Amino acid sequence: MTKEKQTDEILRESPEGYRTMTDALPVLVWQSGIDKLCTYFNKGWLEFTGRTMEQELGNGWAEGVHPEDLRQCLEIYASAFERREPFVMEYRLRHRCGEYRWILDRGAPLYSSPGTFLGYIGGCIDIHDRKLAEQALRESEEQVRQTLEFNQAVMANMGEGLYALDSRGLVTYINPAAERLFGWSSAELLGRKMHDMIHYQHPDGTPFPAAECAGLQVLQTGTALSDSEEVFIRKDRTFFPVACSSSPIKSGGGIVGLVVVCRREITAQKQAEEALYKSRAELRALAARLQAAREEERTQLARDIHDELSGTLTALKMDISLLPDRVAKDHKLFSEKLSSMSGLIDHTLARVHTIVAELRPVVLDVGLVAAIEWQTGEFQERSEIVCETHLPTEEIPLDPERSTAAFRILQEALTNVARHANATKVVVDLRSEAGSLILTVRDNGKGIDEKAIYAHNSMGLLGMRERALSFGGTAEVTALPGGGTLVSVTIPTK
Ligand SMILES: Nc1ncnc2c1ncn2[C@@H]1O[C@H](COP(=O)(O)OP(=O)(O)O)[C@@H](O)[C@H]1O
Ligand SMILES: [Mg+2]
Repeated sequence: MTKEKQTDEILRESPEGYRTMTDALPVLVWQSGIDKLCTYFNKGWLEFTGRTMEQELGNGWAEGVHPEDLRQCLEIYASAFERREPFVMEYRLRHRCGEYRWILDRGAPLYSSPGTFLGYIGGCIDIHDRKLAEQALRESEEQVRQTLEFNQAVMANMGEGLYALDSRGLVTYINPAAERLFGWSSAELLGRKMHDMIHYQHPDGTPFPAAECAGLQVLQTGTALSDSEEVFIRKDRTFFPVACSSSPIKSGGGIVGLVVVCRREITAQKQAEEALYKSRAELRALAARLQAAREEERTQLARDIHDELSGTLTALKMDISLLPDRVAKDHKLFSEKLSSMSGLIDHTLARVHTIVAELRPVVLDVGLVAAIEWQTGEFQERSEIVCETHLPTEEIPLDPERSTAAFRILQEALTNVARHANATKVVVDLRSEAGSLILTVRDNGKGIDEKAIYAHNSMGLLGMRERALSFGGTAEVTALPGGGTLVSVTIPTK
């Protein structure tokens, strides 16, 4: 037995039973006849509207429908009715307390068992609270969207550079002003570590580790940093001063990121500073080029001396060594001269070898460790200063430029010990640690005068610093508390 038949039967056989049933339902039920006019409302309906059955019958119910919804409501009802189709509609119905409430009304045609159309039956539920919640949600979504659009428009059009980082310091957003400021496009920066792109070096060329960056500290401390003066680096590696403010982005009690707003400092003083950074960078580039040119010339010179002098001397020596047998048998003086000449040639050859070795970075032929071993041995022999070495047992893999730089720094440090320190002992240490080459030269002499360290005529010390710097490393010279001088050099191995 189908449900429709069941209802129909109840309706036919016991109208009272049917009404009792619909009255018990927690919904608003209505029924209409073949003339579209309403013939019945259940208790739920009448309690909702607070009106009597008589008031609602016929078209009376329409008085309770919100005037703005009535037209559509009647149209849907009428057109479904004509086609005998079920319908669903939402409209506002006046509650007995005077307030209009949204209801959902589902209507369906009603037939007797032989198939005669009897009219419509419908059931409604109160969806007011749901409807309001939906509306509130739509409104707040709209508000969020508008706020976002507004923020985006502000960020895109503001004159200050603005970028956002996530908790790891990776770029999540950068505005057009910041793109112009840094010379990097948004696509090039997104997902990259911002510090490594724009803040990796101090204006003097020394590395700026992220751990020392005050702006990034905000990610840990959560305390905003305003108007700090920083020097950032453009894509073309030029430095420029900025004033910037960094604010933490907090969410759920944690710090999830950082927003940085920065403005270029364009006061005369800052412009002068920027020009200074630029000329310093140019000087550094020039110094690096000069060093390279010098190495090239020395190599060339070494090759010339070796090829010309060594060759000629060796030939001369061979000639002389043949002479005594043939000519000089009874000329004692002559043979003495010849052997002294031969000695001189030996001596000169040895000198030529040393000069060539000093000119040409031996390091290129034998590796840094072996070159240092050779150089320190040579130094000890010539200077009579005891030279203790602590070197790795194996060669450190290093490109020729870095090996040469480290080797030249060592040579300069040793020369200084011999010339200025008045030392009896020097200790040379070399190790490879955490991607860097670490070289120290410590003497037990009188100690360096602090003023000499940065004096502008201390070209040897400056050269050491520049050589290390050109690979992103450092070379520091310090007077040791107990006397003596320490040169410590760090050069990244890659
Ligand atoms: N190991 C050292 N012990 C004491 N003084 C030193 C030492 N190394 C350098 N100095 C001082 O630092 C100055 C600068 O050194 P440097 O730049 O190499 O120039 P130079 O060797 O041509 O004098 C030296 O003139 C010397 O006074
Ligand atoms: Mg010197």
